[in-house]
Amino acid sequence: MKYDYLVVGSGLFGSIFAYEAAKRGRRIKVIDKRDHLGGNVYTKNIEGIQVHQYGAHIFHTNNKGIWDYINEFAEFNRYTNSPIANYKGEIYSLPFNMNTFNQLWGTITPDEAQSRIAEQRSAAGIGDPNNLEEQAISLVGLDIYEKLVKGYTEKQWGRKAAELPAFIIKRIPVRFTYDNNYFNDRYQGIPIGGYTQIIEKMLSSELIDLELNQDLFANKAAYLEEYPKIVYTGMIDQLFDYRYGELEYRSLRFESVTLDRQNYQGNAVVNYTDAETPYTRIIEHKHFEFGEQPKTIITKEYPQTWKKGDEPYYPLNDDGNNEKYRKYRELAEQMPNILLGGRLGMYKYFDMHQVIAAALCLVQEEFR
Ligand code: FDA
Repeated sequence: MKYDYLVVGSGLFGSIFAYEAAKRGRRIKVIDKRDHLGGNVYTKNIEGIQVHQYGAHIFHTNNKGIWDYINEFAEFNRYTNSPIANYKGEIYSLPFNMNTFNQLWGTITPDEAQSRIAEQRSAAGIGDPNNLEEQAISLVGLDIYEKLVKGYTEKQWGRKAAELPAFIIKRIPVRFTYDNNYFNDRYQGIPIGGYTQIIEKMLSSELIDLELNQDLFANKAAYLEEYPKIVYTGMIDQLFDYRYGELEYRSLRFESVTLDRQNYQGNAVVNYTDAETPYTRIIEHKHFEFGEQPKTIITKEYPQTWKKGDEPYYPLNDDGNNEKYRKYRELAEQMPNILLGGRLGMYKYFDMHQVIAAALCLVQEEFR
């Protein structure tokens, strides 16, 4: 069959593009180098539990159009993300709110909590913060910083907070209401039955063929010659043979285990905010869907320094990497038959709703 497009990557970006192109009568080949579709939103049914294989994925958006769009592919539940923090066995509510302040200091009213934070900020006496540690203390004071920010951030970045630049934390959201809902967005939930069904539906058209275990780079020249247009959602630096050097990322290692008990931690997400515990959080997947299965599956998340060949999770958007990206982008602009998209093609951290918006934007430009 003659195809109009090759889509490299069956993640949310590539799948939306393929779905929309097929709706417009185009023929599309989708390839993915993994042995499953869906990219990082992939969920796998184990013991009747939808396991988020690449970290917790909670859908949230303020955009009604995007919410309606994704709801065409699955029914969403009413899950509200309310993670908790475990600091050396002490439990605190997140994000920082009146419950957290009560647990920390016993304060009851917003006025009490506000004066407590103001006292700590002024006692720290930091004028112009020189690093992340000073920045965080100047925003929320010493207690919150030491118990809930320091260890977690240092594990995430693999460096001491006093050695990290201040700009990484621009603001630390603090709420003076008893509200444990992590996101401020109007719409939030988890697809009942997982995310994989969403991607399967997107790719179900007769005009779309999917091939797994196919890496573009195993046959790059042939692919480039055969397909009139390519939507590429892989790493942009790899597309150009790392001509300007590698873009950097932070990576993660996931360690999952099935436990012969119904309930391990009573919440989907528990962050470990001390420096000594080597992982940053434990996910208990069944709680995303209020599961009552006899077993449970938990995943520990270990942040890692990224090296070539590791899964690139979070782009490190500092000045050096952004400048490299800009140069790669210029090269891409000279190749009108290649359309770049997604978190790796655009070297940008995207939440799911943002990936949907970016993919629909490309669709609009392409089929204007
Ligand atoms: P994605 O990476 O999903 O897809 C790219 C695909 O291309 C992959 O399947 C890959 O195998 C394939 N590919 C790459 N190179 C290739 C090649 N050379 N040949 C063939 N195939 C190739 N968002 C949110 O809204 N709420 C949340 O709670 C979370 N949580 C979260 C946790 C963690 C740990 C991470 C890292 C990310 C999140 N996200 C999130 C973000 C979410 O994962 C993200 O928005 C989407 O998965 C991005 O979809 P893409 O299609 O851009 O990339």
